[in-house]
Amino acid sequence: MSVLEVRAVSHGYGAGTGRVEVLHDVSLAVGPGEFVALAGPSGSGKSTLCHLAAGLESPERGEVTVAGRPADQVTDWAVVAVVPQQHGLLAGLSVADNVCLPAYRAGSDPAPTLAALAEALDLSTFTRRGVLETSLGEQQRTAVARALVLSPRLAVLDEPTGHQDDDHVVQVVAALAAAARSGTAVLVATHDQRVWEVADRVVRLDEGRVIV
Ligand SMILES: Nc1ncnc2c1ncn2[C@@H]1O[C@H](COP(=O)(O)OP(=O)(O)OP(=O)(O)O)[C@@H](O)[C@H]1O
Ligand SMILES: [Mg+2]
Repeated sequence: MSVLEVRAVSHGYGAGTGRVEVLHDVSLAVGPGEFVALAGPSGSGKSTLCHLAAGLESPERGEVTVAGRPADQVTDWAVVAVVPQQHGLLAGLSVADNVCLPAYRAGSDPAPTLAALAEALDLSTFTRRGVLETSLGEQQRTAVARALVLSPRLAVLDEPTGHQDDDHVVQVVAALAAAARSGTAVLVATHDQRVWEVADRVVRLDEGRVIV
């Protein structure tokens, strides 16, 4: 059974003459351990689909479920975790506390996972620093670590390599592939061919429609 199921979703924003239709009858399923890349031109609806999969928005038509429940009712980061395109980190917290926040909420001990993720994503030298005192690429890798800290059933990542140099792209992609190997369903919106190459499947959106 799929972890993420998007069934016949149509979605847009606004009303009247300001209305924008974004997604048209989109269906997509991602199974446990599957690594799916979402490709498509700017404005094709990748972030919108990520928001729906992560339950940050509710579909106007159709259905989005994660682990059998409506995505917009799932608030548990052990079930679905997200890296928004703008990272969504908490400014008042350190890098380490941002990464560990889902574990603190879940009442689990994040120490071993934090150490492993900090090593894998090259965060170790600045984990104690305030997150705003790090570079944009470092913040992005912090958000990736936060998404993976609880080994969620589904991880949704919107352009997680956009601020990375070549070496760090390799690290981010390896961390996502490792998460998928351990059973996480991974959905990554990306323009980055290096992510498409390791994905099990590339789903292409064009003007809000799935074309492959
Ligand atoms: N809140 C909103 N109100 C109105 N239009 C919106 C809103 N959010 C997104 N859109 C429009 O929906 C369309 C799809 O946006 P989306 O952010 O999903 O694209 P994307 O594929 O992620 O693009 P990019 O590659 O640039 O990140 C765009 O035309 C965008 O302008
Ligand atoms: Mg986007």
